[in-house]
Amino acid sequence: MTQKDTIILGIESSCDDTSAAVLKNDTILSNLIAGQSVHQDYGGVVPELASRAHLKNIVPVVDAAIKKAGITINDIDAIAFTKGPGLLGSLVVGTSFAKTLALALDVPLIDVNHMYGHVLAHFINDHGKAKPDFPFLCLTVSGGHTQIVLVRDHLNMEIIGTTLDDAAGEAFDKAAKNLGFKYPGGPLIDKYAQDGDPDRFTFAKPKVPNYDFSFSGLKTSILYFLEKETRSNSNFIEENRNDLCASVQKTIVTILMEQLERVSEDMGIKEIAIAGGVSANSSLRARLKELGLSKGWNTYIPRSEYCTDNAAMIAITGRFMYEAKIFTDQSITAQARVPFTHSGS
Ligand code: KG4
Ligand code: ZN
Repeated sequence: MTQKDTIILGIESSCDDTSAAVLKNDTILSNLIAGQSVHQDYGGVVPELASRAHLKNIVPVVDAAIKKAGITINDIDAIAFTKGPGLLGSLVVGTSFAKTLALALDVPLIDVNHMYGHVLAHFINDHGKAKPDFPFLCLTVSGGHTQIVLVRDHLNMEIIGTTLDDAAGEAFDKAAKNLGFKYPGGPLIDKYAQDGDPDRFTFAKPKVPNYDFSFSGLKTSILYFLEKETRSNSNFIEENRNDLCASVQKTIVTILMEQLERVSEDMGIKEIAIAGGVSANSSLRARLKELGLSKGWNTYIPRSEYCTDNAAMIAITGRFMYEAKIFTDQSITAQARVPFTHSGS
């Protein structure tokens, strides 16, 4: 007898992307994302504008994801949504929507920790691409988080190192802001760095105990450096844009990789993955592959669509929780900060 297919609807609304995905077993049928350009001129996400945009987007995005997947709403076996961490006003929109739809369809409701989602994006079936073996280390780098996670099993993870101040994505975005780019500037630094010299400028790297990270010193050192240089040459940034981007990028990637290397050596783990929005960075991806070759690591890099915030990663996490029968109920509420467990409870 063949097992019945399981269809999970995933919903993600933790920051400034409204996303819905339909997952059939471990294969994505649709993964749609409505971004929010409204924040570009503000240098960061404006929470009130984000929640209003989620409200506008959530119904059309879910509707389009269901249509694109070629299913009907009655085919959905469970609804998985991001409970936290994230911006409360944004999370409330996805949470309320998921609760209402689960009630209307009378299907199980699954509350997912966004950070588990980033890690478990590696288990989406991507044309047979290899998946990490347990235990593995995952460097999860996004706009809000920087973590080295020891992944013992799909639903059993532990944070080994984290940032003491800014996240890696924030370091990219703040450096980008100082260079005059709109929010989020991380992808633009990546773009201009392709034609720049990464060794042209050097920025101090922090000394941080254990396996943690710190990026606030780098932010200040870039700011002071640019202020000093533009005092004597007001066109300094324009004239050196590509080299500045390449040098900033190299510094951030080196800080991340040096810690990851230390953890790998100390724990004797050679299964190494990256996840989160910053793992879309081309230099980080290339450096991980290089290190993999020189250190004998097996490396895992999700395709970019599954690195930045997306509902596919929430759906796959929901699938593991569905199999383990970990459900929530209508009393669930969104939470801006959650403990590091699969459902953030
Ligand atoms: O995971 P994500 O989409 O949202 C959060 O959960 O925060 O990560 C967004 C972050 C932003 O800081 C953005 O600038 C950064 O990921 N990012 C990049 C690149 N693509 C996204 N940073 C550097 N290079 C990229 N290619
Ligand atoms: Zn994220």
